[in-house]
Amino acid sequence: MSKIFSAMGRIEDLLIPVDLGDQDDAENPFALPNVSEEWVSSVEGEKDLWRDRVLYPAMRTWISEFSVKEPIIVDVGAGQGRSSTEIDGYGAYIGVEPSSFLVERAIELYAASRRYFVRGSAYRLPLVDGAADGVIAVNVLFHLARLEDAVKEIARVLKPGGKFFINTADNDALEIWKSLYTNLQIDEAKMQGAIRTPVRGLSLNTFYFQPNQYVIDLLDRHGLRVRRIAKSCEKDGHTLFITLEGEKT
Ligand SMILES: C[S@@+](CC[C@H](N)C(=O)[O-])C[C@H]1O[C@@H](n2cnc3c(N)ncnc32)[C@H](O)[C@@H]1O
Repeated sequence: MSKIFSAMGRIEDLLIPVDLGDQDDAENPFALPNVSEEWVSSVEGEKDLWRDRVLYPAMRTWISEFSVKEPIIVDVGAGQGRSSTEIDGYGAYIGVEPSSFLVERAIELYAASRRYFVRGSAYRLPLVDGAADGVIAVNVLFHLARLEDAVKEIARVLKPGGKFFINTADNDALEIWKSLYTNLQIDEAKMQGAIRTPVRGLSLNTFYFQPNQYVIDLLDRHGLRVRRIAKSCEKDGHTLFITLEGEKT
């Protein structure tokens, strides 16, 4: 890993080794190579739709508003690292992702100076306390069974005053989300099945029910104050996504 320096020192000094538990893979369909592969072609094949029109511009605006120069950005559940190339102006981008297939694909597709892709879980981020000026989590929270553990970790790795950009499923649109799935199995906590995406479907996907206000309150309980809420990706009079931006108090 090349040595780069930030206000905190070398990037290597921000990373800590953390073992992934079996449970992380067991609850994560993206740990299955076929699902990871479907995901990669879905994201890479999506042109001039919600990601290009709404998500990436919103992320670019978010990073342009940092007062610190060259912030350290941690992307939780980074997938194949697409965000690393859609935003700029960071001192370093550290994509944390449990699927080894996706980490390898991120390195293959987007390796560049100031970009780091590491295996790790949202439940135990492989980073020292206060490592990040900014944390991104795009379409990750609704895949997590233990949301509070992940929120605690985001709060831990953010510096005081550090900013977050969280995009997740709009739980006000559950009926619309349900209509995207086939072979749906539902219990109290989650629904699971194959899902249609704009470009290529995923043969397995898990959606944990997390009402919007519950997520906002949970973030707040861990010192992550939401300052801006935006909804996007309209379908049948509802929106599929909610973006929560704010900072660690
Ligand atoms: C829908 S994809 C989004 C990927 C990426 N953020 C993007 O928008 O392109 C969901 C990602 O969350 C990851 N994920 C699932 N469980 C996770 C966990 N416990 N910790 C971190 N990431 C997780 C998956 O491996 C997958 O890469």
